[in-house]
Amino acid sequence: MVKLGIIGYGYWGPNLVRNFNSIPDSEVVYCADFDEKRLQHVRNLYPKTNITKDYKNILNDKDVDAVIVATPIETHYKIAKDCLDAGKHVLVEKPITASSEEAKSLIKAAEKSKKVLMVDHTFEYSTPAMKVKEIISSGELGKIFTIDMIRVNLGLFQEKVNVIWDLAPHDISMLMYYLGHPPTAVRAVGQSYVRNGIEDDAHINLEFKDKVMANMHVSWLDPMKIRKTTIVGNKKMLVFDDTLDNEKIRIYDKGVTIEKNNIPRQPYYDTFEQWKLTYRSGDVHAPKIENKESLNTMARHFIGCIKNNKKPLTDGFSGLRVVKVLEAMQESLKDDGRKVNLKND
Ligand SMILES: NC(=O)c1ccc[n+]([C@@H]2O[C@H](COP(=O)([O-])OP(=O)(O)OC[C@H]3O[C@@H](n4cnc5c(N)ncnc54)[C@H](O)[C@@H]3O)[C@@H](O)[C@H]2O)c1
Repeated sequence: MVKLGIIGYGYWGPNLVRNFNSIPDSEVVYCADFDEKRLQHVRNLYPKTNITKDYKNILNDKDVDAVIVATPIETHYKIAKDCLDAGKHVLVEKPITASSEEAKSLIKAAEKSKKVLMVDHTFEYSTPAMKVKEIISSGELGKIFTIDMIRVNLGLFQEKVNVIWDLAPHDISMLMYYLGHPPTAVRAVGQSYVRNGIEDDAHINLEFKDKVMANMHVSWLDPMKIRKTTIVGNKKMLVFDDTLDNEKIRIYDKGVTIEKNNIPRQPYYDTFEQWKLTYRSGDVHAPKIENKESLNTMARHFIGCIKNNKKPLTDGFSGLRVVKVLEAMQESLKDDGRKVNLKND
């Protein structure tokens, strides 16, 4: 049995506790939060859980093997570092830290203490996202042209970080998971409407090698909850709508091919009429997807890595790669959408 402590039982913490308590070989035995009401809430649901306002009490408890950090982003580094230094395995919520320097420092601390460091890039554990990756890798869509991602909602407004740091980690981690490599450049524009200086709506363009282009819209200012990814390949196109209960993924046998018209050969083809565009609109297919809660798969993976001394799929380096992209987006945002190149080692 892996005994866990959780630090931060606000909006997201309860989902983590529920999942870790639902799997056979883990139990959340300690919960820390500043807020007395949140501590009483966890106690009502799980009466055996120890509660504290000071997370150091969790670190001093020898019965606790691992800690989940579900506090606001700007606090992740200090708390996660303290946990690793105290010899605990650590799962940190996304994004792993507020800077790449901090992420590198956590990676070093985990190496030194020989403990598991994992970041909750939830969607890399989601069955539809796994299916999308499988479809792209099989070549069914052909060469990927563009990926368009929309993650908008009304709220939840954050106090200290903008909408990019709050919502884009999900799409950045998914993009890198789908394509297998980080972007080479980003451009971001955004605006703050509700809280001064904290952008609540942003549009981001990402360049990947081989001319793959991705676009993201993240916003806390939309009347609709939209979680949609459209992937256009030269053979087929795919739409992944995560708000649907069924048929979350649809593959469209649609495309366009451009051919030279059957007109007398000329040295140059420089008018539109000399080319023929052929549109193809075939079947739509919705692959079967197993219905599993991503957080549960993520929780099982973390426990499995601890028990079997394995490197997580979403380890510290995976967290660092996402933070580097976030930093580049932030730099571009502050400079009116200037193109920021990413150095990828
Ligand atoms: N994976 C996902 O899909 C997902 C979804 C939502 C949020 N998150 C992440 O989860 C984290 C928490 O987000 P949230 O929306 O739950 O925030 P929140 O503000 O609702 O909750 C954070 C809680 O942490 C507590 N806290 C802060 N500092 C503390 C400290 N030093 N010691 C003890 N308790 C402390 C606060 O009192 C609060 O109750 C963030 O990193 C966020 O990005 C992930």
